[in-house]
Amino acid sequence: NLNSTLIQNVQSILDTFDQWCCSVELISNIGPKKGKILDRLLQEHCPITVLELGTHCGHSTVFCSARQNKLSFFVELIVRASDEVIPRLREDFSVERLDLVFMDHWKRCYLPDLQLLEGSGLLGEGSIILADNVIFPGAPNFLVHRATLEYIQGIRDGMAELTFIGIK
Ligand SMILES: C[S@@+](CC[C@H](N)C(=O)[O-])C[C@H]1O[C@@H](n2cnc3c(N)ncnc32)[C@H](O)[C@@H]1O
Repeated sequence: NLNSTLIQNVQSILDTFDQWCCSVELISNIGPKKGKILDRLLQEHCPITVLELGTHCGHSTVFCSARQNKLSFFVELIVRASDEVIPRLREDFSVERLDLVFMDHWKRCYLPDLQLLEGSGLLGEGSIILADNVIFPGAPNFLVHRATLEYIQGIRDGMAELTFIGIK
């Protein structure tokens, strides 16, 4: 069926990205191992609205789209700095709630952008924030999880998974 054909095609795109990164040149994609963490969250939480902060070649974007498991999803690429976009998400992009935020942009932006997100009112109870590279290059405030940096063995890295429970 069309759905499984789409998912197979998506998997072959992801595989091609990974083969390229392992054998030709490093591209800072999420990669297969950390992709599994993102995949688990997508499957567990079935988010309706996902915000990715930091898009490069689209590897993790394809990842998120593949797991939407419906034909009615769409992806909007916004080419602007995150701190300009977050405050305008409601007004300019009609976003009411963010179910999953994937942070994979400049690490120094993680904390200020998290604060912007908190202030935006778009995070609701149970909204998930997944932040990559919290160990290397490092964003210490997000440190929770441990793994190895994709494509370069031996450099310790990790992702942090935060669940929004409200502001006190
Ligand atoms: C690590 S790459 C993203 C990889 C991507 N998530 C993937 O796995 O396919 C980081 C990207 O974030 C972008 N970026 C960095 N800081 C940003 C910001 N403040 N707002 C928007 N994009 C940003 C960079 O230009 C770069 O393309």
